[in-house]
Amino acid sequence: MPAPSPVAAAAVAILGSLNMDLRVQTPRLPAPGETLIGTGFSTDSGGKGANQAVAAARMGAAVAMLGRVGRDAHGTALTQALRTDGIDTSSVGEDTAAPTGTAVILLMPDGENSILVIPGANHRFMPAHVADSAEVLRNARVVVAQLECPLDTVRAALASARDAGVCTVLNAAPAQPLDDALLAAVDWLVVNEIEAAMLTGLPTDTPAQIEAAAHALRQRGPSQVVVTLGSAGLLHVGPDGALALPAPQVTAVDTTGAGDTFVGALAAGLASGLPIPAALTRAQHAAALAVTRLGTQSAMPTRAEVDAFVPAP
Ligand code: ATP
Ligand code: RIB
Repeated sequence: MPAPSPVAAAAVAILGSLNMDLRVQTPRLPAPGETLIGTGFSTDSGGKGANQAVAAARMGAAVAMLGRVGRDAHGTALTQALRTDGIDTSSVGEDTAAPTGTAVILLMPDGENSILVIPGANHRFMPAHVADSAEVLRNARVVVAQLECPLDTVRAALASARDAGVCTVLNAAPAQPLDDALLAAVDWLVVNEIEAAMLTGLPTDTPAQIEAAAHALRQRGPSQVVVTLGSAGLLHVGPDGALALPAPQVTAVDTTGAGDTFVGALAAGLASGLPIPAALTRAQHAAALAVTRLGTQSAMPTRAEVDAFVPAP
């Protein structure tokens, strides 16, 4: 019998993308001009923002989603999926001029993927829409954003949260350059090693290089930096120094959304007041469970599953 979960209900506001994921299983990537026979196809609710919202909600947090979909069947299905997880979608707008975002995911037998995102309505989510939902951001304990919506929109949300003293988390994915003014409004920066290299211009091939890059990122504003390393775990650098945490050993079936599961679960842990090492450990276990299953949101674990998987202290 697992111990009772340490994660209490919490208030997390997540601003970001909603995409319908079209997943093709393939033995390998097709060469230019080649037609290749795939081995499977499925659709799933996705988008980095929506994924992180679902991950946080399944960890027990009270979650509000801010974003934009098209007025179409995919938009309806994505917002309905969020509501099924108990997420407040009153700040998810409907756009009449663009379709809902989609993502084409090529999934290889080792669980690795290549993703092509067609942003659609996500790129029509504007700072004015954030202003309409300013109360949601100000009332949250933790505000989370990623980079599949316009940068000015992310900037507006982080600034609004920061002004209200709310903890801000930026998952700087997909990788793109960021200015210091934006990073100055970030408390927690979560990146993978590719994003860390892109943001710093430093190599991230060895543990020492990754730690140097994390310290360089801290110099630009965020007090807490996490570099996720896939099956190798993560490096956290904060005011008290560096902490490397190995990932639980699992057999990966589909790594799509591993980073999103990690970020959403981390946000839930922080919002509920967990100590940082415990919040990081729970998030890693949530992400490890997600990679053992096919799918994006459908692969994300519940709080009870994570409780049962995290080793007793
Ligand atoms: P993605 O873009 O695929 O969502 P990412 O590159 O943003 O992922 P990763 O570093 O691949 O993020 O993974 C995030 C976290 O998920 C890792 O720090 C680790 O805790 C967990 N994780 C990812 N892959 C594995 C794996 N194969 N086995 C165990 N844990 C994993
Ligand atoms: O991080 C995984 C997500 O990236 C997928 O759900 C896809 O929609 C893209 O946004």
